[in-house]
Amino acid sequence: MQESKEQRYKAFAEQLRHPNGMLGKDVAGKMNKGNRLMNLEAIKELRLSENDQVLEIGMGNGFFVNDILLSDKSIKYFGCDTSLEMVDESILLNAKWVQSGRALFLRADAHHVPFQDGLFDKIFTVNTIYFWQDATKVLSGIKRTLKDNGLLIVSMRPKQVMEQMPVTKYGFNLFTHEDVAQLLADNGFEVIQTVEKDDEDVKMDDIVIKNAYVVITAIKSK
Ligand SMILES: C[S@@+](CC[C@H](N)C(=O)[O-])C[C@H]1O[C@@H](n2cnc3c(N)ncnc32)[C@H](O)[C@@H]1O
Repeated sequence: MQESKEQRYKAFAEQLRHPNGMLGKDVAGKMNKGNRLMNLEAIKELRLSENDQVLEIGMGNGFFVNDILLSDKSIKYFGCDTSLEMVDESILLNAKWVQSGRALFLRADAHHVPFQDGLFDKIFTVNTIYFWQDATKVLSGIKRTLKDNGLLIVSMRPKQVMEQMPVTKYGFNLFTHEDVAQLLADNGFEVIQTVEKDDEDVKMDDIVIKNAYVVITAIKSK
């Protein structure tokens, strides 16, 4: 029997939240293309410098790790993701960085980041906030593992874009950049910059969606 449109959207939503199996690898490739600009903008906003220790939460298949590690040879990257397939794919794709000790990938949940206090200069996450069940818990782990003068970058597609995408009614939490600023303020962060840019239109079946992304930079509140 042919899958209905809604069944397809639901299955795709589940893959975006937790890419798995053969389809998960395919979806990860699509995300690399579709989310390229926002990932590169988030990496730019990390303002990478010598000896930075960087954590990415929900790196998918780790496609953009090169863009971080090529910027300076003293930088170290840590990536965590709940999907075992994405961790395995990241290790394969970044084998040379893993072997040289500059990249480490772990299966771990944003709600329980398994790192020591104050380890990171920069923490970033792109397109994962929609799936946080408990933002306070996620942000408390980020705050604990971030150095006092560290940066947090949260990148996402804003609510007004996401609510036009038929997949997002299946388990996505949607935010405006003002919602995220409030969430960060309520959890011990101060937003220092918000960048909102247009992205290429998204086509889903017969729908064309005007696309955009937001990159929010925050520091720990004093
Ligand atoms: C929509 S994909 C985005 C991937 C990539 N960051 C991008 O922008 O293309 C979401 C990723 O976050 C991961 N993820 C979802 N919930 C997570 C959580 N609670 N902790 C860590 N990773 C999570 C998923 O497994 C998936 O790889």
